Amino acid sequence: MLDKLSKWKAKAEQGKEIEGVNLENVPKHVAIIMDGNGRWAKKRGLPRIAGHREGMSVINKIVKKANSLGVEVLTLYAFSTENWKRPKNEVDFLMRLPERYLSVELPKLIEENVKVRLMGCKDSLPAHTINAVDNAIEKTKSNTGLVLNFALNYGSRDEIVSAIQQIAEDVNTGKVNSQSINDELVGQYLMTQELRDPDLLIRTSGEIRLSNFMLWQLAYTEFWFTDVLWPDFTEQHFLEAIEVYQQRTRRYGGI
Ligand code: IPE
Ligand code: IPE
Ligand code: MG
Repeated sequence: MLDKLSKWKAKAEQGKEIEGVNLENVPKHVAIIMDGNGRWAKKRGLPRIAGHREGMSVINKIVKKANSLGVEVLTLYAFSTENWKRPKNEVDFLMRLPERYLSVELPKLIEENVKVRLMGCKDSLPAHTINAVDNAIEKTKSNTGLVLNFALNYGSRDEIVSAIQQIAEDVNTGKVNSQSINDELVGQYLMTQELRDPDLLIRTSGEIRLSNFMLWQLAYTEFWFTDVLWPDFTEQHFLEAIEVYQQRTRRYGGI
C-alpha cells in the first residue's frame, strides 16, 4: 500500500500522472457509444428528447478532459444508420443537435485547438445539419489538438460495403491490382482513413453490444462498458475507463 502511494507520489512529482491516469499510457484514440439518453429521460418522466438535450451537455466536459490528457482522437457515436427507425420528432430533434451544440461550443473548440471531423453518410442528412458540421470542420481545419470525430448517420456495414464497391471499381479501372488488396489498403477506403484504430471503446447504459459501430477498426480495441446512462456520465467515469485500460495487457495475438 505504502509502496503504491510512494510510486504514485513519485510519478505525480514528475508530472507523469494526473487523477490516477498515467500520462505515458493514455489511449490515443477513444471511441464512445453514447447510449442511454432515452432511459435517462424516462426515469424522470420526461420526453426522450430531454435526454438527448442533457446528453449533449456532457460532450463538452469529456472533450475537454480528453484534450487535457493528451488523447489524440475522440470518436463519438451520435447517430447510427439504424436510428432513422425512430419517431420523426425524435429524429428531427437529433438532427438539430449538431447545430445546437456547435452554435454554443464552436468558439471554445477553436480556442482549445480541437479539430472537428465527420464520419458517416452525408447523403441522407438534412442540409442544416451538414452545414453546421461543415462550418465547424472548416473553422477548425488548421487546429492541431484533439480530433473530435462525430459519427453521424454512421453504420459500419454500410462503410464496409461502400469500401468494397470502391475497391471493386478501382480494380475494374486498373487503379488497384486485386493482388495488392490487403488490410492497409482496405483501411484507406474506410471513413477513418487517416485515423489510427481506437485503443479504447466505451459504451454507456449497460448494453453490451456494438450496434454496428466500427466493426473493422475495433479488431484489437479494449472495451469498457458501464451501466451509467450517457447524461449521467462524468469526467470521473472517463478517468475510470482510462485507468482500467491502463491495467490491461494488449497482446495482439502474441504472448
Ligand atoms: C443514445 O441514447 C442516443 C442515440 C442513439 C441517438 P438512446 O436514445 O439510444 O437512449 P436509450 O438507449 O433509448 O435509453
Ligand atoms: C447506438 O445506440 C447508436 C448511438 C449511440 C448513436 P442505439 O440505442 O441505437 O443502439 P441499440 O438499438 O440499443 O442497439
Ligand atoms: Mg440506445
